[in-house]
Amino acid sequence: MPEPLRIETSRPPGAPILRSRRPDPCAVVVFGANGDLAHRKLLPSLYSLYQEGELPEGVRIIGIGRSGKGGDAFPDEYRRSIEEHGREKPLDDEAWRSFAGRLAYLEGDVKESEVYRELRGILSLPETRESTHGNALFYMATPPDLFPNVLEGLLAAGLLHRNKDSAREPWDRIVVEKPFGTDLHSARELNRQIAHAIDERQVFRIDHYLGKEAVQNLLVFRFGNSIFEPLWNRRYIDHVEITSSESVGIEGRGRFYETVGALRDMIQSHVLQLLMLCAMDPPVSFESEEIRDQRARTLRALRPIPAEAVARHVVRGQYRGYQEEPSVAPGSTTETYVALRVLIDNWRWQGVPFYLRTGKRLRSRETFVAIHFREVPLCLFGRDDLCQRLEPNLLLARIQPDPGMTLRFVSKAPGDELSIANVTMRMDWNETFQTSLHDAYERLLLDCMRDDPTLFWRSDAVENSWAFLEPILEAWGSDASIPLSIYEPGSEGPEAAREMLSREGKRWTELG
Ligand code: BG6
Repeated sequence: MPEPLRIETSRPPGAPILRSRRPDPCAVVVFGANGDLAHRKLLPSLYSLYQEGELPEGVRIIGIGRSGKGGDAFPDEYRRSIEEHGREKPLDDEAWRSFAGRLAYLEGDVKESEVYRELRGILSLPETRESTHGNALFYMATPPDLFPNVLEGLLAAGLLHRNKDSAREPWDRIVVEKPFGTDLHSARELNRQIAHAIDERQVFRIDHYLGKEAVQNLLVFRFGNSIFEPLWNRRYIDHVEITSSESVGIEGRGRFYETVGALRDMIQSHVLQLLMLCAMDPPVSFESEEIRDQRARTLRALRPIPAEAVARHVVRGQYRGYQEEPSVAPGSTTETYVALRVLIDNWRWQGVPFYLRTGKRLRSRETFVAIHFREVPLCLFGRDDLCQRLEPNLLLARIQPDPGMTLRFVSKAPGDELSIANVTMRMDWNETFQTSLHDAYERLLLDCMRDDPTLFWRSDAVENSWAFLEPILEAWGSDASIPLSIYEPGSEGPEAAREMLSREGKRWTELG
């Protein structure tokens, strides 16, 4: 393949068109403050925001966890985590000291009422109320089976109030981490418990993929350019491919992973979000509920995959060696790879297959959406060898690791003889905007504090996603004849996934 062409890109001068609201003063209460998420993502993100002056002035951060080492261990452990996972290297001592002055720690069990009493004590101190205006953001970063305990504990301690107007102070909001349920029943039950306690507008169900700039760019790219949207339908698009591959394995999370698997861990959340953004109809405005409505409608239009079609349209795989990972049961059938063929029953997408895949221990870490356009209706070049070289146009929205857009098209190659080449134009986000991207959690945390739910799951959408996946989970659970394909670590995944596409005359974009 010839060297890719580069396009010149320049950042337009001037202020952003939509300036975000300042986050409200508040206390951020992190349940599960000793867990992996808090250490790798939440605290480093809060620190970066604080250091850049993005957090509200009087912010207080209260971590609640079971450390077993005594509450005094928290500050040092956080500092080490921020040093390791934060953006700023090395850590500035003064900035850290100032940030640490905002932190408080509570050691305790979220199943016990004591911890909520102590929390109430801290939140109701006059100095806390003055700096937070009595606003509280409760972040559930515990294992999901503890979410109901946290909700009940907060309610019983009188710390959670229903605010019909979620922006009116003092407000209470909750942030719920994924996985939101493990099936339709548990997701509904969790939604029911939440609705019993507070209003839907007070709930922020996190999917960190929506916090990634390149994911948000899918909407801006589609609806900010007039040349692509007219082509964005069954007349011009042959098929769509969404890939989220990882080179890492389960990284010591065997106990957790055994209860989820790739379908619940990645497809139900991140990959379906990418599908929604790529397939949704234009909203009537950029208001959060308009965008959330359109995303939810897309999920409702997914054609169910009935149990008898699961073996044909869904491939599950497991990397060789998974069963030897710590806390994984020998003989486990948990999938570390899934590929599926999805159809969307609406006018725009009728008959266009969407191929989704995700997996661990694959050849590379890559997330992208590939829009494969139809072939030209007739090859005019009159020579078979030339016609065979014509590759259909491809538009690639690269999410990670090098975010940007790539467009493939056909060009004449230089020379007297007619010769053609497939070339690509590539836009690199970091190079174009001369900046490195912030962690997705930074944006999402700010959005919770400024009451912007656009980038969060709504209760109906989350239930629709589970309703779509339910027959697949059931078929896997009840039909032992559906194979689990073992694939080699570092490969492209199971052969069965390649076959699923080749039956339809397609192939996956090569990884790596
Ligand atoms: C998490 C999953 O939600 O996303 C992990 O639980 C996965 O299993 C991770 O590794 C991938 O996120 P990212 O941002 O690294 O692509």
